[in-house]
Amino acid sequence: MRSHSLAKGTRLGMSVESTNPPSNPPRRRTGIVKLAISVPEEDMSYPVLVGTGLAERLPVEIKKRHPQATRVALISDDNVMPLHGERMANALRHEGLEVTAHAIVAGEASKTPEQLLRLVELFVEAKFTRKDVVVAVGGGVVGDLAGTAAALFMRGIPIIQCPTSLLAQVDASVGGKVAVDLPSGKNLLGTFHFPSFVLIDPLALKTLPDRELACGLAEMLKHGLLFSEEHADAVVAASETVFARDSEALVNLIATSVALKSNCVSRDPREQAPGGRGRAALNLGHTVGHALESVSNYELRHGEAVALGLVAAARVSERKGLCGPGLEDHVVAALRQLRLPVDLDQWLDDERAPKIERALVNDKKREPYRLHYIALVRVGEACTLTLSPAEIIALLRT
Ligand SMILES: NC(=O)c1ccc[n+]([C@@H]2O[C@H](COP(=O)([O-])OP(=O)(O)OC[C@H]3O[C@@H](n4cnc5c(N)ncnc54)[C@H](O)[C@@H]3O)[C@@H](O)[C@H]2O)c1
Repeated sequence: MRSHSLAKGTRLGMSVESTNPPSNPPRRRTGIVKLAISVPEEDMSYPVLVGTGLAERLPVEIKKRHPQATRVALISDDNVMPLHGERMANALRHEGLEVTAHAIVAGEASKTPEQLLRLVELFVEAKFTRKDVVVAVGGGVVGDLAGTAAALFMRGIPIIQCPTSLLAQVDASVGGKVAVDLPSGKNLLGTFHFPSFVLIDPLALKTLPDRELACGLAEMLKHGLLFSEEHADAVVAASETVFARDSEALVNLIATSVALKSNCVSRDPREQAPGGRGRAALNLGHTVGHALESVSNYELRHGEAVALGLVAAARVSERKGLCGPGLEDHVVAALRQLRLPVDLDQWLDDERAPKIERALVNDKKREPYRLHYIALVRVGEACTLTLSPAEIIALLRT
């Protein structure tokens, strides 16, 4: 069954605003790309703003969108707080807002119910009301944790996402999914809490390590493979520019990825479309990817595991005869260019393959014994297969 596909080059809900007068410094001369992400069932939409130097606009945007807010909880991690968070907190204080700044220890190990309660207690101690706002400044871990705390405190106060990793900019900050991990599994305690707005500033990526940048590129390539060949090609063609942190090039690539993801999310905001269709298409590369992440004991970063999962999806698509020959080679070449791992076979030996099969059984998106596996008909068009974990492994190993 075919999943949604998007016409080449489609840029839904995207407008480009040339806001800066010519006298502004060069890095602010780029236009701001504005996307309106609709949540039809809630009859609302929220803006995603992408632009170089946009972090500086946080105080103005808060005053504009939350004029009654007097307090801000700025949540970050101990890598990002000194690099970006402190400056943003000071700018908010300068505008007369009362700021509680809190840095968690960086990394997935902080995405716990304990840290969630710690944040909620912070809001209580700072005498937060429902008019006040939470700002997440960091990668997906910070966004998910702060978003979950904002969703639950007093039954929900606004969350503003200021993602600083590429993965969070193109994926985690958009879509409204927030969660923390339980000992029994990742993202098991969570909800939907749509952000009040998302502020994406590619300048933040100047301090992001290359390995993390590549992880974000894996998700961007995924958006292209699913919905737009033009975007997939553009991401690969721009790889050197991206690793050079060229903010101008990044603005358009990030905005296109966000538009492609949000177009899919808007049609199925709570992932309720049956049969692996709708939002579940975004799971391309993630079924095998999650299994590899866990079998590697999280030595593979999420984006690296997704890269190998994309190779797997291309291989399954070819071996099921869904697409013409050469798709796997094409995906491998793209991932190499993006400095991502591609050697899937090293994970499929006699020792590891059974472990991966067992990990596939634990995949959160399963139905009993069969998985909705997202495959590709061609670059830019996906389809859904129903396969057992054993069938997936057999297809990958033949
Ligand atoms: N909610 C969603 O829809 C969604 C989607 C995808 C992923 N996620 C979640 O996101 C998380 C992964 O996100 P991530 O890859 O951003 O991980 P992360 O938050 O751990 O960030 C990766 C690393 O980069 C550092 N970092 C971030 N921005 C930086 C910057 N500008 N400069 C220097 N260092 C910086 C962080 O401190 C961290 O060490 C996972 O928990 C995943 O479950 C959520």
